[in-house]
Amino acid sequence: MMIELRIFIIVVNTVVAMNTTLAPLTFFRHNNQFTDQYLNKIFNENNELSINYRHSEILESRIIDGFPADIRYFPFVACLVTKSYATNFRGGASIISPYWAVTAAHCLQEIGRYRLQANMAFVRSNSSYWRHYYMEHLIIKAVIHMNYTRHINNALDYDIGLVKVATPFQGNYERQIAFANANFRPEVDREAIVLGWGTTDPLGTDVNEKLRYTLIRVNNQKNCKALFKHRKNTQITNRMLCAGAPGRDSCINDSGGPLLQNQILFGIVSFGVKGCANPVYPGIYSRVQYFNDWIRHHIAHEYEERKSDNSKQKGRN
Ligand SMILES: *[C@@H]1O[C@H](CO)[C@@H](O)[C@H](O)[C@H]1NC(C)=O
Ligand SMILES: *[C@@H]1O[C@H](CO)[C@@H](O)[C@H](O)[C@H]1NC(C)=O
Ligand SMILES: *[C@@H]1O[C@H](CO)[C@@H](O)[C@H](O)[C@H]1NC(C)=O
Repeated sequence: MMIELRIFIIVVNTVVAMNTTLAPLTFFRHNNQFTDQYLNKIFNENNELSINYRHSEILESRIIDGFPADIRYFPFVACLVTKSYATNFRGGASIISPYWAVTAAHCLQEIGRYRLQANMAFVRSNSSYWRHYYMEHLIIKAVIHMNYTRHINNALDYDIGLVKVATPFQGNYERQIAFANANFRPEVDREAIVLGWGTTDPLGTDVNEKLRYTLIRVNNQKNCKALFKHRKNTQITNRMLCAGAPGRDSCINDSGGPLLQNQILFGIVSFGVKGCANPVYPGIYSRVQYFNDWIRHHIAHEYEERKSDNSKQKGRN
């Protein structure tokens, strides 16, 4: 029996325990310790990335030709920042539960283990401006998909990550967005909305003060694969989807941000080739429907931890 559920709404206290044989968290902080089963695979010795996006032909961590967006209409949009001497913008994110936001794995990889462990990484939300009027939430756990791979000149596969924050998203403009169910079918050739603080200049790398959006069309998957077929370093996998429109695209510093259709998060800004708004190559997004179980698993796992913590506290009282 096939039921086409188009909407999956997270109600945290009804998420059931998922198959526990799924891979453990990539890294997470628990009692101030990160476990790092997979970290060595993901970070270099400096916990940094060696790829320079700006000069990479293939990897443009990606709004070109868009409009300012008001957080009141898109209250699930958030961004990642790190703070040391300066505050740096690190990408977009979407609020999907009271404590969790979803982003791109490569944004978390760039933030790096060191900054996460040192409590230097935050989610900013409830504001159209990344530097003003925001609410800020310390990231206490970060999950990168265990299959996330990245090689110079290769496409990003499994480019998805989750962050858990210390204080819940409960501001006026901090709302959860429903994310694509495993049976979700994007409406091909119909418009989708992509949002971000990324550069508005196809050749730029700056960050925009105010959130912007643009409308792009979703390619059908066959067409997407065909467009990139002759590029041997950019294999389109089932974890990816293409979307674009003439002169419009997501771009540098939009990574991690949401792509939506019918109020459902179904894509995460991942990468592009040959610059932004290229007439031949649409932008590539992580295909959220593929990760529905993975996302729910991690959120459910977290919920159980909290539940047992609470019951312990009750016992003592
Ligand atoms: C990771 O990749 C392997 C091999 O392709 C696959 O069997 C496994 O299901 C993937 N893990 C997840 C969590 O998707
Ligand atoms: C969120 O943003 C709105 C509009 O700027 C502001 O009035 C409110 O105080 C902020 N914080 C919360 C918790 O809603
Ligand atoms: C994103 O914006 C920051 C400014 O906050 C800039 O330094 C950085 O180079 C941009 N990122 C990329 C990938 O260009």
